[in-house]
Amino acid sequence: MKRIKARKTGVVFTVVFLAAAFLLYGGIANAQKIEVKFSHVVADMTPKGQACMKFKELLDKTGVFDVKLYPSSMLYGDKEELEALRANNVQVIAPSMTKMVGFNPQFQIVDMPFLFASEDAAETFWASDKGKEMFNSLRRAGFIGIAQWPNGFTQFINQKRPLKKPEDFKGLKLRVQSGGLLDARNKTLGAGSQTMAFAEVYQALNSKAIDGLDNTFNNHETMKFYEVAKYLTIGNFTRIDYIVMTNVKFWDSLKPDQQNLFTDAMKQATAYERSLSEDLNDKSLEIMKKSGKVEVYTLTPAERQEFVKALAPLYKSYEDKIGKANLDYAKSLK
Ligand code: LMR
Repeated sequence: MKRIKARKTGVVFTVVFLAAAFLLYGGIANAQKIEVKFSHVVADMTPKGQACMKFKELLDKTGVFDVKLYPSSMLYGDKEELEALRANNVQVIAPSMTKMVGFNPQFQIVDMPFLFASEDAAETFWASDKGKEMFNSLRRAGFIGIAQWPNGFTQFINQKRPLKKPEDFKGLKLRVQSGGLLDARNKTLGAGSQTMAFAEVYQALNSKAIDGLDNTFNNHETMKFYEVAKYLTIGNFTRIDYIVMTNVKFWDSLKPDQQNLFTDAMKQATAYERSLSEDLNDKSLEIMKKSGKVEVYTLTPAERQEFVKALAPLYKSYEDKIGKANLDYAKSLK
């Protein structure tokens, strides 16, 4: 009897010892990993959300890094995430480029209506010396731009009326991601603008504090904007491209082989994001159409041309801020 008891105690001791050793080892192993916090403002089922998950999967697999994802503004909203990156409270963010306007106004190039002819044109631009120069300009502010992730062209959604011609915009109050060119665009069409963080848009639409906004199909769908704004106008007005960034302090703390692992995972996640972006946007459009909650209208080429004409003066008035050479080059790309 005594022997059985002693054996039981021995087994219990061994199990407890092994469990403690396992936990301790796991703790040490994890403590030795380099933590990478990645914060962003969109849902998981978006090109950005999915690419973040891919990046985590790839980088975690190296055994060197421990990536923690914070989607849907759960950690930081638009403005805060930029400050948090600067302070190294997060190590990666991927804001839409227009949100970098305060650091370099040239990033508003994505907001120039009807400038980029296609997804390829945008990708080529950001891979060019001109795009790279803009990325490099952010080092002054402590940021390092590491990739461009597209989310495509923007379409307007609003609660008041179908938008078929420039005059239809008169009097609308539209949310914009940042001031500057987007504000000027709306003014040119006779609409007002309100700069607002992405996380606040649904509530603002729902309470009718704003009448509408432009965004990608994917953001309209995953944020349920289409459930509270009835009219969707397809016109491919401007773009949402993301700049994936880290900060200088974090980057410089990595050894060259760690930087290589990081860069490699980012390259693969970028290819993945690009392969998803158009598909997910198409799917989102289908979901919105099928819901019956939104009336979808596609501008005819002639109607679109009216918008091109109405907004053409913006090229001249933003030439100095964005750079004529940048605008001309972007325009030349097919
Ligand atoms: C927005 O604020 O509308 C977008 O930039 C959100 C996003 O990250 O796609």
